[in-house]
Amino acid sequence: MSYLDLRPAVLFDEITDYPAGYRVLVGMHSAAQRIALSMGLERKATRMELLPLLREKLKDLTVIPPVVVQDGPITENVFDGADVDILKFPTPMWHELDGGRYLGTGSATITRDLEEGWVNLGTYRVMIHDSKTIACYICPGRHSHIHRQKFVERGEPCPIAISFGHDPLLFAAASGDVPYGVSEYEWAGGIKGRAIPVIIGEHTGLPIPAHSEIAIEGEVVFSETRPEGPFAEWTGYYGSMQRQEPIIKVKRLMHRNDPIITGVARNRPPNESSFSFAFFRSARIWDYLEVAGVPDVRGVWCHETAGVSPFIVVSIKQRYPGHARQALGAVSSCRDGAHAGRYVIVVDEDIDPSNLADVIWAMSSRSDPAEDIDFLRNCWSSALDPMIPSEEKDYCVNSRALIDACRPYKWKDRFPPVAECSPQLRQEVIPEVESPGAGVKRDSGTWSGGLAPPHPAPCTHTRSPAPRASSPCS
Ligand SMILES: Cc1cc2nc3c(=O)[nH]c(=O)nc-3n(C[C@H](O)[C@H](O)[C@H](O)COP(=O)(O)O)c2cc1C
Repeated sequence: MSYLDLRPAVLFDEITDYPAGYRVLVGMHSAAQRIALSMGLERKATRMELLPLLREKLKDLTVIPPVVVQDGPITENVFDGADVDILKFPTPMWHELDGGRYLGTGSATITRDLEEGWVNLGTYRVMIHDSKTIACYICPGRHSHIHRQKFVERGEPCPIAISFGHDPLLFAAASGDVPYGVSEYEWAGGIKGRAIPVIIGEHTGLPIPAHSEIAIEGEVVFSETRPEGPFAEWTGYYGSMQRQEPIIKVKRLMHRNDPIITGVARNRPPNESSFSFAFFRSARIWDYLEVAGVPDVRGVWCHETAGVSPFIVVSIKQRYPGHARQALGAVSSCRDGAHAGRYVIVVDEDIDPSNLADVIWAMSSRSDPAEDIDFLRNCWSSALDPMIPSEEKDYCVNSRALIDACRPYKWKDRFPPVAECSPQLRQEVIPEVESPGAGVKRDSGTWSGGLAPPHPAPCTHTRSPAPRASSPCS
């Protein structure tokens, strides 16, 4: 089991210079069990056990619109105009080189489409300028950026609301890949199985989570800009430096008593956001492989240590010549696998794709570099790719290595057997640890993707009399 699967969440309280009870939560999604809890899934111990449940939950999701309520915890404290003081919260300076204090990291920025009326929630970083002024960095192409542009075209300020602490499910929705035109409120309602309660903001008419911890209403003023950033990016670097961004004037501040900021740091991976992204992206790539007609996929994992998209592993049960290369091609060309990628690796079904030790062993023992690594050039990259020098940021492409680390199909049945205890023998020796049919227990937990090839000469001499658990084959 990876340390990330068990990493605790930390709730900071009694922060110097702030009232006790004004808290900061980090790590809400740094463990598989807590992601399961947010998504209403059975709490499984390992990534590969949880992933199929997540895929099932996301499949054919029926969305549920939010329900408007008159008040909620968020209306416990309301401040307007001159009484607004956004500096009252213990906003962290997350990393030494950040350009300021960021109240919004695991936040949800709420905007409405001028023409179509639907409401978007997006996790975009929010920096504090002063007690009534903040800035939100939204990449071009993001749904709220499109909403904002429509106000720019009309020459009007854009109404905006931001929640800085909320149900982790809303964070999953706001930072996840909910399709354009679908509100994250509806998506989250579908996952929960009931409508998300919202209040209607008096200044903006925007729906705000009634159970939010801290929220603001305001407007983006395009005519006034101030420096924003830099801030640590998903790659683990400062990929973009300080830039001028339009300011947000805060008109109303609301918070519940003893509010909690839900923070998500983006330091060098693995980190909380790369871990939760890994789940959702791996689920989508697995779905895509099925649609693309790649049979017998046993697992997919986009590695949190690499920042998710640069290192993707797919496990298959090889069924025909070329199957492994088909999987590599499909992963590297689907949207989630194509953007900002670097390495795609295919492994056999006995390899847990989320276990780096397994994957490195497979690469080191089942691939011949000259034969089994193919390259794609001029692929879709990102301006945040630290390998692209600043003078080339207007044309961001990079290459891909596609690594076939499966046993060679031609002679896979003659491939040397694996030198380890078979699952059957293990089960007999330590039944209290291995439940029947549970598969091979490895560092990352129970992996049931497939079994290692049968041992030609199992240690039958250990069967009778009963073996000593510590040394069954001695
Ligand atoms: C912790 C965290 C911070 C993020 N910060 C930003 C950001 O500052 N700007 C941005 O455009 N996207 C950021 N993202 C990515 C977006 O949240 C993500 O792409 C989301 O799907 C955008 O929502 P949208 O599709 O509704 O625009 C961040 C994601 C996470 C998990």
